[in-house]
Amino acid sequence: MLKGNVVFGVYSDSAQNRVRAQLKQIFLCMGFEEMPTNNFVESSFWNFDALFQPQQHPARDSHDTFFLDAPSTTKRLPEDYVERVKQIHETGGYESRGYVYDWKREEANKNLLRTHTTAVSSRMLYQLAQKPFAPKKYFSIDRVFRNEAVDRTHLAEFHQIEGLVCDRGLTLCDLIGVLHDFFSHLGMTKLKFKPAYNPYTEPSMEIFSYHEGFKKWVEVGNSGMFRPEMLRPMGLPEDVQVIAWGLSLERPTMILYGIDNIRDLFGPKVDLGLIKKNSICRLGIN
Ligand code: PHE
Repeated sequence: MLKGNVVFGVYSDSAQNRVRAQLKQIFLCMGFEEMPTNNFVESSFWNFDALFQPQQHPARDSHDTFFLDAPSTTKRLPEDYVERVKQIHETGGYESRGYVYDWKREEANKNLLRTHTTAVSSRMLYQLAQKPFAPKKYFSIDRVFRNEAVDRTHLAEFHQIEGLVCDRGLTLCDLIGVLHDFFSHLGMTKLKFKPAYNPYTEPSMEIFSYHEGFKKWVEVGNSGMFRPEMLRPMGLPEDVQVIAWGLSLERPTMILYGIDNIRDLFGPKVDLGLIKKNSICRLGIN
């Protein structure tokens, strides 16, 4: 049960599903493995704490995140890892000073609807760190939820695409290279990057692509190198880096199909005429 009075739509559109299938194919061709994303409910721990997102961060507010009434808390977390995450937040380590505040287990236990698929990436990287290290390339495409006002470019639920590469000796150049490779498969060949901030990546970059039709640069995603404060408590070796990026599935779909209102694409106000006219139709089952 959700706090508040929110009804989530379960409509999907064929343009979006086509782009989704195309993206999956691109990742598979690039040698990426799909991550299991079949849990919409996640604990704050994996969604935020494991990602070195401080407990006072505004994204953790009920105005931004849908918290669950029942079950309101998670039952199981890996205790020794939780202790290391607490330490990195409170006092730092691995050459970091941490955030210097009292980290509260009750905050980490709170269940929510995942706000990004990076929650899945944090689980996967933790699992990877429990075995002798082997490089990996992972991707996911699935639904996320944010408690925000709906307008022509924002919905309370949408889909995220996420890619990550975990290997020894990766640099920002590798990230820029893999982003060029990935977006060129979508026909987006002109890219620009702008410094950005995420609690879990450093450096971080917003990704812009030049849209020939709109004759302007449009933001297409967010990216970065996961911070040691995230990776080292998991147990990944010191010389292992992770480059990652994320974007909403709705964004490239709108750009590629020239749709200018996100509500035409997904959610309760979707244009059923558009769905009926399109050749493939699938109703929001992931
Ligand atoms: N999680 C980020 C978002 O929700 C996207 C992202 C993924 C950024 C991976 C950097 C690295 O916007």
